[in-house]
Amino acid sequence: MTAVLSSDAGTRNAPAQHFEVRRFDAPVGAEIVGLDISKPINDVDFARIHRAHLDHHVVVFRDQQVTPADHIAFSRRFGALEIHVLHQFQLKGHPEILIVSNIKENGEPIGLGDAGVYWHSDISYKPRPSLGSLLHAQELPSQGGDTLFADQHLAWEALSPDLQKRVLPLKAEHSYLAKYEELRSKNPWRPKLSQAQIDQVAPAIQPVVRTHPETGRKALFVSEHFTTRIVGLPQDESDALLAELFAHSVKPEFVYRHHWAPHDLVFWDNRSLMHLAAGTPDELRRKLYRTTIEGDTPF
Ligand code: SIN
Repeated sequence: MTAVLSSDAGTRNAPAQHFEVRRFDAPVGAEIVGLDISKPINDVDFARIHRAHLDHHVVVFRDQQVTPADHIAFSRRFGALEIHVLHQFQLKGHPEILIVSNIKENGEPIGLGDAGVYWHSDISYKPRPSLGSLLHAQELPSQGGDTLFADQHLAWEALSPDLQKRVLPLKAEHSYLAKYEELRSKNPWRPKLSQAQIDQVAPAIQPVVRTHPETGRKALFVSEHFTTRIVGLPQDESDALLAELFAHSVKPEFVYRHHWAPHDLVFWDNRSLMHLAAGTPDELRRKLYRTTIEGDTPF
C-alpha cells in the first residue's frame, strides 16, 4: 500500500524546483531547503520529497511563507485529511486545520494548548491511525516550544531478541479518552466532550509492533498517551510491560529535538515515530497549524 501521491496534469509537468535534502546530525530527520510548497511541484520533485519522508521519517520544509490553503493542498497530495474530534479548535473556514496553541483571547483558548504533552503517534486510537502530520509555525516563543521525535524502528531494532519475541504477537488497546479527564483537570479550558465526540473515538486494538506499509520496516507502536493495556494480559503484567516499552521507546539515542524556526513546516511519519511537545513557558505565545493525513489499518 502506498500513499496517494496525487497530482493533476498541470502539476505533473510543472518546472522543477531546486531544493536540497540535508540529513540532520541526529538519529532521525532532515531539512528540505529551497522548496516552495505553494508552487506547483512536479512528479519528479514530489517523488524526491516522498522518498526523503520515508528515509528520514521527519522532514522540515524551511521558510514556508504560505497560506492555510497552500498547507492543506500540499498535505492532500499525500492522502485524505482527518478532521480532528476537537472541532472547537479548527481554524475558521478550514476544518482540516487543528490549531495548536497556548494563546487565550478574551479568556478563551484559540487552540489545543496541551497537544503532545505525552509521547504519542497521532490518531493511534482510531482503527486507521494517521499516516503523517504537517505542523506549520505561525507564532513562536522566544524560549521553549521544541518538539521531540522518537524513531520507533530504532526502538524495535534495539529491543533484546527475547523481548522482540515476546511482544511481536501482542495487541494493545489505544484510547483517546485514556488521559482526557486527567488533562482536563490540569487544564480546565479543555472542552467537555459531547456524546457525539465520545462516539467518534471508541478505543481501537492495534498491534504492539506494526509494519510500515511502504518500507516494510517494523516499528514499536505503543504510547504513554493512548495505550491503555495489552490485550489478554493481567492488568499488573500489562502495566509492567507497557512501562518498560514506554521507557525504552524514547531513549535519547532514538530522538531528534526540533527547535522551531519561523515558517518551518514539519512533516512527520506517524507510522515510524512518536512525538512530544517539550512545553512553552505560560507567558510566551506559541501557535502552529496542523493537518493530519489519514493512514492505513496497522498490521
Ligand atoms: C502535536 O502533538 O501535534 C503537537 C506537537 C507540538 O505542539 O509540538
